[in-house]
Amino acid sequence: MKRTIVRAMGRVVCLVGIATANGQAAQQQRPQLAEEVFKNVQIIKGIPVDEFMDTMGMFAAATNMNCVDCHTSDSTESWENFAKETPLKQTARRMLLMVDAINKQNFKGVRSVTCYTCHHGDRRPKQIPSLVVQYSAPIEDPNEIDVFSNAGGLSADQIFAKYLQALGGAERLASLTSFVAKGTYSGYDTDQAKAAIEIYAKAPAQRTTIVHAPFGDSVRVYDGRAAWIASPDKPLPLIPLTGGNLEGAKIEAMVSFPTPIKQAFNQWRVTTTTIDDREVTVLQGTNPRQPPVNFYFDQSGLLVRLVRLADTAIGRVPTQIDYGDYREVSGVKLPFRWTATWTDGQSTTQLTEVQANVSIDAAKFGRPAPAPPPRTK
Ligand code: HEC
Ligand code: HEC
Repeated sequence: MKRTIVRAMGRVVCLVGIATANGQAAQQQRPQLAEEVFKNVQIIKGIPVDEFMDTMGMFAAATNMNCVDCHTSDSTESWENFAKETPLKQTARRMLLMVDAINKQNFKGVRSVTCYTCHHGDRRPKQIPSLVVQYSAPIEDPNEIDVFSNAGGLSADQIFAKYLQALGGAERLASLTSFVAKGTYSGYDTDQAKAAIEIYAKAPAQRTTIVHAPFGDSVRVYDGRAAWIASPDKPLPLIPLTGGNLEGAKIEAMVSFPTPIKQAFNQWRVTTTTIDDREVTVLQGTNPRQPPVNFYFDQSGLLVRLVRLADTAIGRVPTQIDYGDYREVSGVKLPFRWTATWTDGQSTTQLTEVQANVSIDAAKFGRPAPAPPPRTK
């Protein structure tokens, strides 16, 4: 896994560079590595904690196993218990080495083969071809787009123009510069119970969300440059977001003030597909050395889905956000509901009230305080 280490180190150095340029203490910015935080990491070393947790999401998604299946049933009680050895952890480590060797020997070290390539959501990969699969109509996954036909004839510019128009038009969008929202959040981390959520957003791209969860306040901040999660249910009281997660936090913040999105990507490609039998137009934005981001627009021009990818040491993992319930706030349509789905969880946010253009204390977008230990649920 030397490649992993070298690659991750490159990223750390780069982060430090940015931090120094911004005049912040480089020390503060260097994210802690997985092996510095966890007790029994033997192979997936040299990567920050957020990326490490994404590799666990890849494991779960690829094998359709829950965290506790590979770890111990008491691991839900404390993060320490995840360090315990189990036979399945050992198998998974063997698999990691095998996949690394396959990619090195056959694909020049590019991560062409991942856990998902063989497992495909099965704990035991299949050996025998399925006639049912072969002879039934293919199930299309709108997130798996590889043909960009420019179907529909609209250019990326036209699709953006339609989007901004559907939201209320350039002028109204320009006059919305901040909002404070309240609503409810429910997800795997709240055991689907509804918890109060507050959102603070400021143009061009600052965003803080606070979920008042049963275990304590779960805080996410994107300050326009850096992002953090401070939540009592996480393995670290303050997790800086890196790589694809940092890019993702930025895009999600920009969606509230979308005019600059078009300029935020180097290249755009267009295609169409369907989501739940509804035709949607897809814009895929790419930047150099970044995974692509897909934006899905319905017939009225509104954004209904966002799919972004994060690179991890063992392959890319997706996050999907579905937007809906658009309502007007001072002349601009904002999504009042969204569902985020990723490899180790799903959550739905429903807003109940939004106040536009209120002044928000700059401290709201500062680095959050580390979360206290969890309150018992
Ligand atoms: C397919 C088996 C598998 C699944 C599923 C899995 N893990 Fe792991 N987990 C591992 C292995 C293997 C390691 C050790 C990796 C290494 O040695 O580099 C590990 C390590 C960890 C660690 C570090 C523990 C320590 O202190 O050393 C944490 C935390 C963790 N996993 C959390 C999770 C969570 C949360 C999930 C569910 C999203 C999950 N894991 C799903 C196999 C799995
Ligand atoms: C080249 C194909 C291939 C790839 C890639 C692959 N696996 Fe496997 N995996 C297998 C096969 C085959 C088995 C054995 C299934 C059986 O015993 O029937 C297996 C078994 C496992 C098992 C044990 C399941 C059980 O119930 O005993 C785990 C856990 C596992 N793989 C995890 C992973 C992880 C994590 C990755 C990615 C790092 C991965 N695999 C990548 C082919 C693969």
